[in-house]
Amino acid sequence: MPCYTSPVEFPPEELETARLRLRRPRIEDSEAAFDSYTSDENITRYLTWSAHTTVAQTREYFQQTIDAWDLRMGHRVWLIERKHDRVLTGTIGCTVHFHRVEVGFALGSRFWGLGYMPEALQRVCEAAFEDPRIYRVQALCDEENRRSSRVMEKVGMELEGTLKGYGSHPNRSDTPRDCLMYARIRGD
Ligand SMILES: CC(C)(COP(=O)(O)OP(=O)(O)OC[C@H]1O[C@@H](n2cnc3c(N)ncnc32)[C@H](O)[C@@H]1OP(=O)(O)O)[C@@H](O)C(=O)NCCC(=O)NCCS
Repeated sequence: MPCYTSPVEFPPEELETARLRLRRPRIEDSEAAFDSYTSDENITRYLTWSAHTTVAQTREYFQQTIDAWDLRMGHRVWLIERKHDRVLTGTIGCTVHFHRVEVGFALGSRFWGLGYMPEALQRVCEAAFEDPRIYRVQALCDEENRRSSRVMEKVGMELEGTLKGYGSHPNRSDTPRDCLMYARIRGD
């Protein structure tokens, strides 16, 4: 665990890993994000939202996420940009509640299987624990969403249990879904 002389406030606007840059969205990213992930029907089976059918939907959503950054509301979304070619691959977001951070994430399906999301999530966990206020990083996924569970397992998050009828995943089912709660605790 690195040692810091002063508290680092989470979440920062930008984070880097070996291959990826996590950064605030800009309105000008809307078209590239639409092409790479927001219009991708493969990714929304276990998400709360449906694939966008127009760039305007992505632009409107990005405006909301930009406002959230500017207003310092609890919910922050990063875009995941591949460093070597600046291609947008997907997104990871977090919501801060007191000492807790909840994360959610999605990648365009052509970027699956390359270990990008574990790399991004690992960096978000590290950054969260650099802030002395943060004690717990948690994430929920549909009980069927094995790919997402694997991401959490790979970064050392532990399965804590099942929340019955917790998730609203309308692309999978009209009725609320059982979800798995994973978490990593400071110092574990
Ligand atoms: C979940 C997700 C982010 C995984 O990201 P990723 O960068 O592909 O993660 P990894 O490369 O580590 O792959 C994770 C697991 O997915 C599986 N997987 C990856 N690519 C796959 C593919 N093309 N087909 C089938 N399974 C695949 C593998 O089992 C892999 O685990 P393994 O490395 O132990 O074999 C990505 O699948 C995604 O965006 N899914 C849709 C959105 C979503 O469900 N988000 C989570 C909401 S809680």
